Amino acid sequence: MKHYTSIKDIDDITIWIQEAKALKRNPLNYKELGKNKTLGLLFFNSSLRTRLSTQKAALNLGMDPIVMNVSGDAWGIEFGDGTIMNGNTAEHIKEAAAVVSQYCDIIAVRAFPTLTDKEKDESEQVLNAFVKYASVPIVNMESATGHPLQALTDAITISEFKQKDKPKVVLSWAPHIKALPHAVANSFIQAMQKMDVEFVVTHPEGYDLSPDIMSNTKVNYNQTEALKDADFVYVKNWSNYKDYGKVTNTDPNWMITKEKIGDAKFMHCLPVRRNLIVEDAVLDSDSSIVIQQANNRTYAAQLVLKKILEDL
Ligand code: CP
Repeated sequence: MKHYTSIKDIDDITIWIQEAKALKRNPLNYKELGKNKTLGLLFFNSSLRTRLSTQKAALNLGMDPIVMNVSGDAWGIEFGDGTIMNGNTAEHIKEAAAVVSQYCDIIAVRAFPTLTDKEKDESEQVLNAFVKYASVPIVNMESATGHPLQALTDAITISEFKQKDKPKVVLSWAPHIKALPHAVANSFIQAMQKMDVEFVVTHPEGYDLSPDIMSNTKVNYNQTEALKDADFVYVKNWSNYKDYGKVTNTDPNWMITKEKIGDAKFMHCLPVRRNLIVEDAVLDSDSSIVIQQANNRTYAAQLVLKKILEDL
C-alpha cells in the first residue's frame, strides 16, 4: 500500500480486521520491519489518542517516530499555487513536504477542516498537498472530511464485541455547543458500508451528511425508532453540512441516555463531553466500550503502517 488517506484504501475490511486482531495478540511480532525507518507525525490540530496510539504503533513495529505541532511550532505554510507570499505564510507546501520527506520514510498528517469554506474542505487541500509534494507515503490522521484510522478502529471493535453474525449498528447524532467536523461520521459510515451489519444513521432533520458519503445508507430522523434493537450505538456530533459548519440544533433531547441504549454497546471516538453528548450513567457502565475502542487505535495504526512498510 502506498498511502492511507481514506477508507477506500481498504481492499477487504474483513481481512484487515483479522490482521489487526493478529497484531493485537502479538504486537511485537514485526519489530524488525520498521527498524531504521522514521515516522513523522505532523499535527495542525490537537490530539490525544491519535498522537499517542500512532507513535505506539510505530514503536511496536520498531520505527522511530518524530512529532511536530505544525500550527504552533513550524513556519506558516502556504498552500496556494502562484501566491505572492507577502502575507503571514513563510514557506510553501512544495518545499515543506519535500523537506519533511528527507527526514521521514512515512509522513502522517492531521489537518481539520475550516468549516467555513466547503469547497476548500472537500478538496482536502492540506492532505492532498502532502500526497502531491511529499516523496514518501502519507497517512491520514484525520483530515477535513475523513478519519480512516478511527473508522478502521471502530470496525475492529465492533467485530470483537459482536454477539451475532449481523449486528445492528446505529450512528446517532448528539448535541454539542461547538461546530464539529464531519470526518468521523463520514469515515464510520464508509466503514459500515463495507461491513456485514444492519446499519442506520439517525440525526435531526436538516443535519444530513454529504450524499456522496451516504450513498444508499438508511436514515431515520426518529432517534427512538432508529435505536430500537440496536447492538451498537455509535454517537457523534457533527455541524450542519448543508448550512455549512453552522450549529443549527442543540436539542438536549438527542443526548444519549442509559434508557435509550438499553442493552446496546456504546461507542464514541473520544474526546466526549459528558452529560451533553451522553450521560454519565452510560459512560460509567459496562455498556460503554469507549476505552477498549481507544485501545484499538494502536492496532489499526499498526496495521496501516505495517502494510506501507511492507511496500516501501
Ligand atoms: N479519536 C481521536 O481522534 O482522538 P484525538 O483527537 O484525541 O486524537
